[in-house]
Amino acid sequence: MAGNLTFSMIKPDATAKGYTGKILDRFIGAGFGIRAMKWTRMNRDEAERFYGVHKGKPFFDDLVAFMTSGNIVAIVLQKDNAVADYRQLIGATFDPAQGTVRHQFAESTQCNAVHGSDSDENALIECSFFFAQKDFLS
Ligand code: CMP
Repeated sequence: MAGNLTFSMIKPDATAKGYTGKILDRFIGAGFGIRAMKWTRMNRDEAERFYGVHKGKPFFDDLVAFMTSGNIVAIVLQKDNAVADYRQLIGATFDPAQGTVRHQFAESTQCNAVHGSDSDENALIECSFFFAQKDFLS
């Protein structure tokens, strides 16, 4: 249930560069279990809905174009304190700290390799965006 699940996405910049396996290794090495996972691609409507909270921001159109430009990997991760621990693992959107996944794999603020949920509530919403609840809730 919420509290030990978070939603992760490997973004098109990272899948295109062949970083998927290395990024999954980082997640598993940090103690996360994979509860559900799929290699897929978002269309424009899906990307606009997934990032709906950013609609109207200057970077929104570029973000949607980027997120629909290639394949993504949608992942439900499980670990105690999942949301906070995962956010620490991937690093901040701006100037991610050394040792974080974004410091290692991001190419820019927009093309930043991975997404992570910012709260337990949004984790459940984002997991449910890509998966049926029976796929990740037991
Ligand atoms: P993420 O944190 O996964 O979710 C929102 C995304 O919008 C963020 O990653 C970046 O990919 C993108 N983003 C956020 N802020 C900016 C910005 N100032 N300029 C460009 N892209 C941004």
